[in-house]
Amino acid sequence: MAELSWENLEKAVSACRACPLYRGRLQTVLGRGSRSATVMFVGEGPGRQEDEQGLPFVGAAGKFLDVALESLSFDPADYYIANVVKCRPPMNRTPEPSEANACLNFLRAQFALVRPRIIVCLGSVAHTNLVSAEQSISRARGQWILKKGILFMSTFHPAALLRDEQKKLPFWQDLKQVRQKLDEVKAQTGAE
Ligand code: URA
Repeated sequence: MAELSWENLEKAVSACRACPLYRGRLQTVLGRGSRSATVMFVGEGPGRQEDEQGLPFVGAAGKFLDVALESLSFDPADYYIANVVKCRPPMNRTPEPSEANACLNFLRAQFALVRPRIIVCLGSVAHTNLVSAEQSISRARGQWILKKGILFMSTFHPAALLRDEQKKLPFWQDLKQVRQKLDEVKAQTGAE
């Protein structure tokens, strides 16, 4: 990729043919939210509505996430939302490891541009690619991991909560922790 800038990243992503997923996309889906956010949420990949609108998490799972964030008084200026892969997998299947790998440099570029202090992995694809391939999401969720100065937290994917009510409470508890940590981090940076 050329020099790191949002403009260059947008161009590179929308022209990308690095894996077969480009064949099925209507458009690429880069991210939404504040580009100077303290928290980044990372999902799996676009679904049908995201592919149509060019924005992540705008379908049922996204609406659920938005309501949860609003209920916990997250300020939209504080978060940015992206996915591991930028093109919709066929039939919304899980992206293959090779597809995730082909796309990860774009996510890394987003991290470098946004410079979040906290990254929340939504579901096992984000968790596996960003935190650890060893532990399942059910075991790993809710724990803070510090990597290269960034705090990572993994939790369930919002779509999983729509299928399994029992995941809602732990998800809520995890987001509450993120909300508290956001306040702490902001208090620290304000004091620096
Ligand atoms: N699921 C995801 O992981 N990402 C989206 O953008 C939408 C649904």
